[in-house]
Amino acid sequence: MPDLSKLPPDFLWGVATAAYQIEGAVDVDGRSPSIWDTFSATPGKVDNGDTGAVACDHYHRWPEDLALLRRLGVDAYRFSVAWPRVMPDGVGRVNPAGLDFYDRLVDTLLTDGIRPFVTLYHWDLPQVLQDAGGWPERATAEAFAEYAAVVAARLGDRVADWNTVNEPLCVCWIGHLDGNMAPGERDLTRAVHASHHALLGHGLATQAIRANAAREASVGLVLNLSPIEPATDRPEDVAAARRADGHVNRWWLDPIHGRGYPADMIATYGVEPPVRGDDLAVIATPTDFLGVNYYFRQLVVDDPTGPAPYAKQVPVPGSVETAMGWEMYPAGLERLLVDVHEEYRPGRIIVTESGSAWPDEVTAEGTVEDKERTDHLEQHLAACASAVARGVPLDGYFVWSLLDNFEWAYGYDKRFGLVHVDYATQRRTVKASGLRYAELIRAHQRLARTTDATAPVA
Ligand code: FCB
Repeated sequence: MPDLSKLPPDFLWGVATAAYQIEGAVDVDGRSPSIWDTFSATPGKVDNGDTGAVACDHYHRWPEDLALLRRLGVDAYRFSVAWPRVMPDGVGRVNPAGLDFYDRLVDTLLTDGIRPFVTLYHWDLPQVLQDAGGWPERATAEAFAEYAAVVAARLGDRVADWNTVNEPLCVCWIGHLDGNMAPGERDLTRAVHASHHALLGHGLATQAIRANAAREASVGLVLNLSPIEPATDRPEDVAAARRADGHVNRWWLDPIHGRGYPADMIATYGVEPPVRGDDLAVIATPTDFLGVNYYFRQLVVDDPTGPAPYAKQVPVPGSVETAMGWEMYPAGLERLLVDVHEEYRPGRIIVTESGSAWPDEVTAEGTVEDKERTDHLEQHLAACASAVARGVPLDGYFVWSLLDNFEWAYGYDKRFGLVHVDYATQRRTVKASGLRYAELIRAHQRLARTTDATAPVA
């Protein structure tokens, strides 16, 4: 049981989703194809040949899904806007029907007293922009700023909280270097170029949101970070761990905090990021918070013949693994939050994703007894509470995910939801972990009220 009294009274309790993973309705109301439609339609790319064409059909069932948010009692909901719904040509023409969908969502959330956290890019690049070169091209960063301005102009009178890019690591290293996510490229030079443009896009979008939102905007980038450890104390493995840390963590954290790209990593890649003019200053545009997604630590060994950064992740002996094969390691979250706070001092930190996949089943009684997910949740919240006690300015925690959904290259087999989805019927069932989350939220709110009542009046 996490010590909820250590969390600040105004701690934000949330859940997160992403457009392509839940919406479906891929060819409805003027949406154009995204790189994930293309990737998932390519044989062999996604397990079972699954695609996001229907997903949780959230585009049609959103009122029911918002009712689930009320049932959980969350303060905040993090969702993403699908760029190809809003600007089907990537730039220029705006599709009113696309914007209307998110407009209704935001209004309903606000009526329900739930704070919308809008992510602008959760991986669904319009395919037309990919055809023009995608993230390795500078024009994509500029297009992203244009799209950010359009969304901020429409929703920014009501939405206060914005995430620019979700996990540039996955966009660039997995999408362009490992090839296991859209667009499925394996090219180090293009991957490094993509990383610069994703960060530049983040900086430009941060400025575009502030310039176009009618109310004050709180803006942050979302990074998936991992504590890295060498698997042995061999000097080669220790050096490999340093490179893996550069690849996973420092490559993103350094430039947004005004330190530029880490020189050791430019040397490791042998590729210079295509920096022009004041790009580094744009990338370091001050933000209001850092979004941290945490799933696992990485134990690595030297891998001189493998792909950059020439470090290979190895299993942690004796560890408990989720259905993704990811080690369950809550201590890593505390360590990560403390390390990032001490090294970079972002003004505020929000855990924008944390969660786990398990092979859930609905029982004959209609329940889902997901004890492992409940343990995972409690232990990661306990890690947050300890980090707060150690001085980390942590504002909130978003569970990945509200619903079971399309888990990218793994398709529908990997279930991360607090709510189970039966894809044949689209029936939603709140899992035991979801009920527990609701209880924790209520318990913390009670505690916060008591603390407030007894606090000295300033
Ligand atoms: C993160 C993604 C999210 C989800 C979780 C499991 O990397 O941001 O969309 O797939 O992993």
